[in-house]
Amino acid sequence: MNKDNDYHIYSAPGRVCLYGEHQDYLRLAVIPAAINLRTKIFLKENKLRKIRIQSCELKTSDEFSLDKNLSLANNEFDYLRAIILTLYDEGYTDDLPGYDIHISSDVPIGSGLSSSAALLVSWLTALDDQLGMGLSKMEIADLAFKAENHILKINCGIMDQYSSAIGGIFSLDCDGPPYNLKSFTSKFDDLVIGDSLIRRSANEPLTILKNLINEGMRKLKAKTDYNLKIITQDDLLAVRKLLTKDEYKRLFGVIRIRDLTERASKELAKVRKNQDLNLLGSLLTEQQKMLNENLQVSIEKLNRLVNESIKAGALGAKLTGAGLGGCMVALAPRKEEEVVKAIEKAGGKATICSIDYEGSKKERSK
Ligand code: GLA
Repeated sequence: MNKDNDYHIYSAPGRVCLYGEHQDYLRLAVIPAAINLRTKIFLKENKLRKIRIQSCELKTSDEFSLDKNLSLANNEFDYLRAIILTLYDEGYTDDLPGYDIHISSDVPIGSGLSSSAALLVSWLTALDDQLGMGLSKMEIADLAFKAENHILKINCGIMDQYSSAIGGIFSLDCDGPPYNLKSFTSKFDDLVIGDSLIRRSANEPLTILKNLINEGMRKLKAKTDYNLKIITQDDLLAVRKLLTKDEYKRLFGVIRIRDLTERASKELAKVRKNQDLNLLGSLLTEQQKMLNENLQVSIEKLNRLVNESIKAGALGAKLTGAGLGGCMVALAPRKEEEVVKAIEKAGGKATICSIDYEGSKKERSK
């Protein structure tokens, strides 16, 4: 979008989850990678104590007053309201001058690439700069998480907001705050993303899974000392009788993905040249197996895109995000073009993305 020079510009990236899908809200570790698809906020102060919004992609607009009675409106711009409500609740401000905003995004909505966190984080980055709040990137991520989880009541964890604010590839231990974050320099720069073009609300798979897993853990904790950090597959097998078939299956998947993520973390912590790309690829595909068979958040079309990518030379692939639709991601060094073709042939929309190492940022002052 080409806005005139009256506008400040801020942006934040989308992400893929490489390892640790459905682990963040269980307080386990995740390894996301921010990608070079960004959401941009063009912003100009209006001194009307009003937020006036236009979205380039949605072709809709909205306007609301910044008074104490601000509440959610149940529309696509609730993300912006939720950030302001969070700043009010946390005592950061109660006096915003009002802004005209244009939103423009390359991150497809509802596709597992974290369009919501990219919007929340870019908007908060804009307000942080405008109000001189001096927030660190971690504070931006924490507040964006509060807006999504506490205000918008999405059953998400903290992965998306941290990935969008900080950028790069890192391992994040979600058992905090404080959260332990270790950044990696990976041997691969590009990833192939395949969109199933099936849209869904992330909250559905998140809520179903979270409830089943928490119920299973509640039963285990009543009779044993196990928790999700320490329980092994053998431990789980030994106490199988305490759980329903579905709870056992989901918990097995969670434990396996936890272990695969730990293995990936060790590999990515090595110096670039020593990282084993074949292993990193196979850890993606192993996870996909668990996401499909045990957590049951994959769908036929995503399975097809994953399988076809691997047949075309990808070292591994998995769905990304909450699942039941959206995108998959493939690691296919030097085979990117072949994998793109295979994804398109299987009915998906393919994009080669590079890893974004900047996270959220101010792009331009007016
Ligand atoms: C959504 C949530 C994340 C995470 C993933 C599943 O993207 O927003 O916090 O739980 O699903 O890994």
